[in-house]
Amino acid sequence: MMARRVQFTTRIGVIATTVGSAVGLGNIWRFPYEAGAHGGGAFMLCYLFFIFIIGIPVISAEFVMGRAAHSGIMGAFRYHSGNHRWDWVSYASILAAILILSFYSVVAGWTMEYTFDSVTGHLGNVADSARHAEFDSFISGWRPVWWMIAFLAINAAVLLGGVQKGIERMSNILMPLLFVILLVFCVNSLLMPAAGEGLAFLFKPDFSAITPSVVLGAMGQAFFSLSIGLGCMMTYASYFSDSTPIVKTATTTALLDTLVAVLAGIIIFPAVFSFGMQSEAGPKLVFEVLPSIFYRLPGGSVWSAMFFFLLVLASLTSTISMSEIFIAFLCDEFKIARRKATVILTLLAMVLGSLCALSFGPISDITIFGKTIFNAFDYASSNIILPIGGMVISLFVGWRLDRHTLLSQLASNGRLPSWIAPCIIISLRYIAPICILAVFLAS
Ligand code: TRP
Repeated sequence: MMARRVQFTTRIGVIATTVGSAVGLGNIWRFPYEAGAHGGGAFMLCYLFFIFIIGIPVISAEFVMGRAAHSGIMGAFRYHSGNHRWDWVSYASILAAILILSFYSVVAGWTMEYTFDSVTGHLGNVADSARHAEFDSFISGWRPVWWMIAFLAINAAVLLGGVQKGIERMSNILMPLLFVILLVFCVNSLLMPAAGEGLAFLFKPDFSAITPSVVLGAMGQAFFSLSIGLGCMMTYASYFSDSTPIVKTATTTALLDTLVAVLAGIIIFPAVFSFGMQSEAGPKLVFEVLPSIFYRLPGGSVWSAMFFFLLVLASLTSTISMSEIFIAFLCDEFKIARRKATVILTLLAMVLGSLCALSFGPISDITIFGKTIFNAFDYASSNIILPIGGMVISLFVGWRLDRHTLLSQLASNGRLPSWIAPCIIISLRYIAPICILAVFLAS
């Protein structure tokens, strides 16, 4: 038997950590820009479909695999299959985790710059009409590289604090604070002149706008936002105790994650329409819109500083979870020390992150399949590797996993209503894999 693994200490700690992984730039930065670029309501509808029909079963599947095996993705596949034939899934996941960590840290670096600029008052001095040019000149220079390096250094420092002390304690405090501040901004946005137009854009689906690329984008976003498909939730579940209820934790995580994304949409789109901005602005959208929102309120710098600071921290709880995939892999498979694994990961991400950061400026002409390095990393990982990973995990857990293990893990001490496990199994065996395959074929 393997040595007893460290475990999370409390139930709230489990939720705060899984939600901490799920909630991040994916909700507040990526969701609004993807929705904006893909027609608003049409995207939202597909996104919600994927979260509930595929997302919750796949998170549950990851939890089942991770907790039963007490190990990260590679160990979990080997434990449940009894052989090494599934190792390729883990290699793909680890590759995607590094790609995501690299571009994610760049955006987290942008939020650090904006926190800093709010505190110094610089952001408040920029006229609304100049925000676009201001942001463009920032991301096309070298400053994002330094911020990305600073962010990854902080990420490494937290990782070295270990599972309980570092990750759990921080998530417990910061996640609730983020919710409260989002609610304040929501109310503020709902009072804007074009609030109705913004909400209609987000919530009224135009069915003719549902194209294969909208559906693929929504599926990628659902996977990205829930942190599934890479074994990230699997790795966290390896730290769960036997009494942690799997389905309940999965559902709570999905609901809270979706809530944050929807709140971010409610904050952004009324403002986009009220200020006459472009909803298709892409990765820059949120950075150009949000400051204009904050500086309309009394005490603008304080709101702005607080929001961007919380966003840095929300990003940190997410990057820690991505990093765990790689670190658990190195520690479990190569038996190297956590400290050494953290250093290897951090250096690698800093190199790749620099390429992503510079792909908005100095090396913007280097493209991979017609996309800049930043966009290529995002697209390849979110729209391709995550859904494939999700498909493999659902097929594996649905068809291959020992029936008894699956049912007893899902039931977690028998507190699960009897109709839920069959629904999850049907989704894992048929619905999720078929939907994912169909979306791939269509696009
Ligand atoms: N879900 C996080 C967000 O929305 C990002 C994230 C963390 C992630 N861990 C992941 C995405 C693992 C994919 C896989 O910001």
